[in-house]
Amino acid sequence: MRNSGKYQEIRKRLEAFGQEQLLDTYPGLSPEEQERLLDDVDGIDLELMARLYEKTAAHSAGGEVKADELAPLEPCVESELSPEERERLRKLGLEAIREGKLAVLTMAGGQGTRLGHNGPKGTFDIGLPSGRSLFELHCDRLREVAELAGAPIPWYIMTSELNHGETVRFFEKNGYFGYPADMIRFFPQTMIPPMTPDGKMRLESPGKVLKSPNGNGGAFVSLKLSGRLDEMKAAGIGYLMVAGVDNCLIKMGDPLFLGALIDGGEDAIAKSYLKRGPGEKAGIFCLRNGRPGVVEYTEIPEECATAADRDGNYIYGDCNLLNYVFRMETLDRLCGAGMPYHIAVKKLKYYDPASGERKEQSGCFKFEMFLFDAFGALDTLKVLRVRREDEFAPVKNGSGEDSVELARSMFTDYMKRSGISRI
Ligand code: UTP
Repeated sequence: MRNSGKYQEIRKRLEAFGQEQLLDTYPGLSPEEQERLLDDVDGIDLELMARLYEKTAAHSAGGEVKADELAPLEPCVESELSPEERERLRKLGLEAIREGKLAVLTMAGGQGTRLGHNGPKGTFDIGLPSGRSLFELHCDRLREVAELAGAPIPWYIMTSELNHGETVRFFEKNGYFGYPADMIRFFPQTMIPPMTPDGKMRLESPGKVLKSPNGNGGAFVSLKLSGRLDEMKAAGIGYLMVAGVDNCLIKMGDPLFLGALIDGGEDAIAKSYLKRGPGEKAGIFCLRNGRPGVVEYTEIPEECATAADRDGNYIYGDCNLLNYVFRMETLDRLCGAGMPYHIAVKKLKYYDPASGERKEQSGCFKFEMFLFDAFGALDTLKVLRVRREDEFAPVKNGSGEDSVELARSMFTDYMKRSGISRI
């Protein structure tokens, strides 16, 4: 056996963690496949996986949230700014863009399981008359800002090993939607193996370990490992605007958003929208033990979720819109810091060596980092509350809540209100 020394060593390590089933298919593989499988296994942090499995009993990264740990985080409400103030902030942002200080990152590494689209989520056509995909919608809005500022804006797109090739090909096939091709830069995020309920890692195919993207919080470590962070720093980028791929109303490169951060001098800024009821399924901005943060709707104590002032305004009312700007110094710090993993219980499909077929199993564990967990490391975070109907229409599900249909109609209404004829 060509790799016998390496095989013995890796097998011993796997046995120490009860994960030797990952080599069940090894004898039947070609020498090249054997080598690839050994490398694949070698890249797994077995101690981390064992620690994560221990945590699956509790099912939470942050532990229980207590009401007395929380305090409100006062937002800056965009609609309450005077027209002069808005213009001043917008100009401040545009000036920085003109100086080449802004880059934008779209997080497109998710698997989009709820939507069930056959392909990367950004390639999804939401059914507008123009037939534009989410990627094209984002590109068009970014191009408008770049043209207004008179300077190109580098656009980073975080993919995953699962959708990288397809994403890049989609842009190539569509001529990068007329955006300068050298200004669009892709990088895949890091991956982590999920586990079946018995704590075992599994194979995706006879020669490959099953892995999933490690959550949108994986953006930090992936920016660093891919070399994109250093590239940004070398190019003199001062601010990184970050957004999810699935919000069709996202204001790519929003100069006012950037200007509000530059003006206030905080470490970072985040957009929020006002929650519609105590049960809104969104993370809520707050201070936790005096540090800025987001508490998930599943974790917020009931008394905080319902708390309102005398006028009936929610005290914890600012929902996370998944849109942020980080100063480069802040980003640099966050990219080097560790992040906790959250545990999601999901269905998994994996290759079963005993039957030689793919098997589906529910109650399995996926591990994900959430970008907002990084906020605890910030000294200051500004929250800019914007109008939900203007800026938040996520495409998550085929029907029902956060559906394609709802997102399409919100997008169409917004365009009509703004007097834009191309929909
Ligand atoms: P979601 O949490 O909605 O996940 O992602 P998803 O993968 O798109 O969809 P489901 O849950 O499987 O149905 C919010 C944003 O974070 C990105 C997604 O691409 C989306 O823009 N994301 C999520 C990543 O970039 N990487 C991940 O590992 C997870």
